Amino acid sequence: MIYSEKVMDHFANPRNVGVIEDADGVGEVGNPVCGDVMKITITVDDDRIDDIKFQTLGCGAAIATSSIVTEMAKGMTLEQAVDITKKDVADALGGLPPAKMHCSILATDGLKKAVDDYLVRNGREPIAGPIAHDDPDFDPHEEAEE
Ligand code: FES
Repeated sequence: MIYSEKVMDHFANPRNVGVIEDADGVGEVGNPVCGDVMKITITVDDDRIDDIKFQTLGCGAAIATSSIVTEMAKGMTLEQAVDITKKDVADALGGLPPAKMHCSILATDGLKKAVDDYLVRNGREPIAGPIAHDDPDFDPHEEAEE
């Protein structure tokens, strides 16, 4: 399996690692097949992501995708952040091997959950739409074969 230089860089030097204390929104997801878990915390200012941190216990691709998602989302509006797709993530990393595409869903779902958590805490409607990891029938390996 060949990883791009960018994947290796984000795996070896992940950005925005940690947990924001007193975060405005928190998203946690777990991949039911491989057991990997990730947590994203965000602060929000004027409906933009002001700060973002992640903790991922998982494979190298899960760590690299989590790292790049935090870089992509920082400064985005909440609407823009929930629209980040697994393809956007893979493209930003210079590609991911097909068998590892599903790992990027962990990061995008974690971000969606953090945004919706912020909105719901503030009495607003969630905007992320269905979150793959909330579906009990979600099989990340089927996603990988798309
Ligand atoms: Fe679990 Fe990559 S193998 S997210």
